[in-house]
Amino acid sequence: MYNDILKGDKIISVIGLGYVGLPIALEFARKAKVIGFDIKEDRVELMKKGIDPSRELKSSEFEGCDIEFTANPDDLKKAHFHIVAVPTPINEHRLPDLKPLLAASKTVGKVLKKGDYVVFESTVYPGCTEEDCIPVLEEHSNLKFPEDFKVGFSPERINPGDREHTLTTIKKVVSGNDAEALENIAKIYEMVITAGIHRAATIKVAEAAKIIENTQRDVNIALMNELSMIFNKLDINTYDVLEAAGTKWNFLKFFPGLVGGHCIGVDPYYLLYKAKELGYHPRMIDSGRSINDGMGAYIVKEVVKKLVGMDKNVKGSRVLIMGITFKEDVADIRNSKVVDLVHEFESFGVNVDVIDEMADSKEVFDEYGIKLADRPNGKYDVVCAAVQHRPYKLMGKDDFSKLGVEKSIFVDVKGIFKNKVDTEQFVYWSL
Ligand SMILES: NC(=O)c1ccc[n+]([C@@H]2O[C@H](COP(=O)([O-])OP(=O)(O)OC[C@H]3O[C@@H](n4cnc5c(N)ncnc54)[C@H](O)[C@@H]3O)[C@@H](O)[C@H]2O)c1
Repeated sequence: MYNDILKGDKIISVIGLGYVGLPIALEFARKAKVIGFDIKEDRVELMKKGIDPSRELKSSEFEGCDIEFTANPDDLKKAHFHIVAVPTPINEHRLPDLKPLLAASKTVGKVLKKGDYVVFESTVYPGCTEEDCIPVLEEHSNLKFPEDFKVGFSPERINPGDREHTLTTIKKVVSGNDAEALENIAKIYEMVITAGIHRAATIKVAEAAKIIENTQRDVNIALMNELSMIFNKLDINTYDVLEAAGTKWNFLKFFPGLVGGHCIGVDPYYLLYKAKELGYHPRMIDSGRSINDGMGAYIVKEVVKKLVGMDKNVKGSRVLIMGITFKEDVADIRNSKVVDLVHEFESFGVNVDVIDEMADSKEVFDEYGIKLADRPNGKYDVVCAAVQHRPYKLMGKDDFSKLGVEKSIFVDVKGIFKNKVDTEQFVYWSL
């Protein structure tokens, strides 16, 4: 397979061209022939014009690529090495929602030929590729696994908005259903990944490796969130404590905060699901999830207590929330926990204005029913720096002072504006 791809005799297809799929498709298209397939025709039309619908890649990154973008699944028949990078979200019960992954497996199954390879990149629980995806591939191809086709799993580790750790500069974990598959898959990824390849022992090992990377972050952030709640009661600043503790060589540098997005706040639920299915109820992972998911409500409760303490009428008071994306300097609003802040404040009758220059207002409205304000409108009882976008980080004392009424509250979710607010005017509070 590797030699045929290298010679241009066989074609790579990428199914699902989002944050993960498009960069991998373009990178391969500099070295091999690629077909990029997505079910969303409007996204495909944009990519044909050299526009990344996720707004991560520049037009110049489409240049010099041998790629055919299509929304027609029949075009995939021409390809032999299929990479699946579709979403793996959770449903309203916080259980894995495998619909996109199984739909993509069906699409690939219908075009699968003897000798083809399928590599899954979507984050899943250990066992999902073999137990859930391969049967769908077999059913729709009328082929038998492993005799007729090979399968691998290679998790994606890119980090939206991160210009330093990019697809090619992050070591890539790959796996295959047998030694031959592993070697071919590893060599094919080696064509584009300059940081090198880690050959995992099995598909399940590679699936588990990815899921624990994010679970580890989630649990560590949950610990920081729990500490911040304790320190709040002790009336000490969490960041001052972390700065002091961080001078020890082996103190891990994690910080409190809202855990949103489609990875860290979602992936541990996949592991929870699988563990429970096997009869083990994870306590630590579950607690971490529940602490992190509760942070929006906690922050609002603390702010409301402060408003009451300042003899302000909570109902009808005005809050400005700066930032709605799931993290700083990205346009991605998926599973943003800032939305919890908005809804919690509104449940107390507080009037909330949200600004975010990075986010697409139509997308925010369609997804959450929240209408973004173009700019701050007058003065606020509470100014809440929820996301540390670059332009907010550049703001100084005067800029913030203009936003608050004479006696107001400054909520600094990430604890970075401590020395930038006038404490005569603002009661400063951070996690
Ligand atoms: N975004 C990240 O930084 C990141 C990092 C590591 C891992 N992951 C994982 O990678 C996977 C993909 O995530 P993403 O962020 O690229 O998602 P995304 O939402 O940005 O993109 C997914 C794309 O797949 C398309 N799609 C959905 N169903 C499809 C189907 N049946 N057939 C073809 N296309 C389909 C969508 O239209 C969309 O364009 C997920 O499992 C995610 O957890 C994401």
